[in-house]
Amino acid sequence: MDGDPEARQRLVASARALLTAAETPVESLLWNVWAQTTRTVAARIAVDMKIFETAVRDNGSTKTNEELAATTGASPALVKRITRICASMNMLNEQGPGIYAPNDLTRLLAQSEYAAGIIFCFDCTQQSFAQMPAYRSTKFQNPEFDGPFQYGNKWEGHAFGWLAQHPDVFHFHGYVHALRSHRPSWTEMYPVKEHLIDGLKAEGDASALVDIGGGTGQILQDFSTAFPGYTGRLVLQELLEVIGAATAMGVAEGKRIELQVHNFFEPQPIQGARAYFMRSVLHDWPDEQCRTILGRLKDVMEPGYSRILIDDCVVADEQAAWQHMSLDLFMMALAASQERTEREWYRLIESCGLKIAAIYNKGEGNEGLIEVVLE
Ligand SMILES: C[S@@+](CC[C@H](N)C(=O)[O-])C[C@H]1O[C@@H](n2cnc3c(N)ncnc32)[C@H](O)[C@@H]1O
Repeated sequence: MDGDPEARQRLVASARALLTAAETPVESLLWNVWAQTTRTVAARIAVDMKIFETAVRDNGSTKTNEELAATTGASPALVKRITRICASMNMLNEQGPGIYAPNDLTRLLAQSEYAAGIIFCFDCTQQSFAQMPAYRSTKFQNPEFDGPFQYGNKWEGHAFGWLAQHPDVFHFHGYVHALRSHRPSWTEMYPVKEHLIDGLKAEGDASALVDIGGGTGQILQDFSTAFPGYTGRLVLQELLEVIGAATAMGVAEGKRIELQVHNFFEPQPIQGARAYFMRSVLHDWPDEQCRTILGRLKDVMEPGYSRILIDDCVVADEQAAWQHMSLDLFMMALAASQERTEREWYRLIESCGLKIAAIYNKGEGNEGLIEVVLE
C-alpha cells in the first residue's frame, strides 16, 4: 500500500465513509464540531508546553505528567488535562494512568516545522474563523477584499502585511513545504524535459525559471536537485522580509539560486523567461488582484517560448475534495480569496487575454499544475 499512494488514499476515503455510516448523527456532530475545536486548542497549548518535544526525548521513553511538565515548569495538574485530551485524540499514547509514550503523530508534532504550522493555523486563522459569525453583519455577502481577517484584526490591507509584523506567527514556509513533501510534486505531473529543458535558451533572462512568491526557496532547491539538466538561471522573487529569511537560511549560497526582492504587483524585471512559476500564490488573491499579477507577466512573456506555471488547487465541479474545501474557507477567512474550479481558472486566465495550454492534475485533494501561454 505504501508503494501505491492513490490506493492508500482510496482506502482512507473508504474508512471515513465507513465511520460516517457507523456513527449516529449526534456522534458525527460531536466528533466533527465539538471534539475538533478542543483538539485544535489542545494541540496549540501542547506545542507551547513542549509536550510533544519532551515526549520524544530519550528515544521516546515513557514519561509521567510531572516529567512532561518539567521542561517548561508548567503545572503538572494543567499538563495532565492537556495530555489526557491529546491521548484521547491520538496525539499521544497513554501507557497507564498519567504515563505517556509518543506515537508517529507525536513524532511529527514534535518537529519544529509542524509545530510552527499549529501556531500559524491557530494564532492567525482561528482568530479569523472566530470572527466569521460576527462578520455576518455584512448580510452574508461573499467577502471581496476586506474579509473576516481584516474585520477580526482591525487591519486594513492583505493578511501578508499583518504577518510581516508578526514574525512569531509567520514561520509558516517550512510548514507549507513540509506538508507538500508528502504530496505529488508539480514535476511529477508536468513534462519538465519537453516543455522547459528542450529548447531552453542558454543565457540571460530567457534561461530563467522564476519562482514568484516562492517562499524561502525550497521549490527551486528541490527543482535544482531533481533536474540538474536545467542549466538556466533559477530566480526566487519574494517580499523583502521573506528574502531576508531565505538569505539567513543560506539559500543563495553556492550561487545556484538567485534571490530577488520583487513585489508581483509591480512590473516584472525578468523579460521573456522560460517560465514564471507560482505555487499557492493566486489562491491568496481575489480575481481583480490576480489579473494585475498575471498582467505583469503577460507584459514580459516571449510568444511561443515563455509560459506561466500555476501550481494551485483545481477544484472539482462536483464532490469537491475536503482538502480543497478546507483551504477555500482558510482563503476566505484570511484573504477574501478562494480556491478555483477548472471553469473559474479558465474564466480568470481568459479574462487576462491569456490561454490555458493544459491542466495537469494528480490525485484527489492535491494541487494541479496549470500551464498558461500567450494567446
Ligand atoms: C502561500 S505562500 C506560498 C509560498 C510558496 N510559493 C510555496 O508554495 O511554498 C504565498 C507567498 O506569496 C508571497 N507574497 C505575498 N505578497 C507578495 C507580493 N506582493 N509580492 C511578492 N510575493 C508576495 C508571500 O510572502 C508568501 O511567501
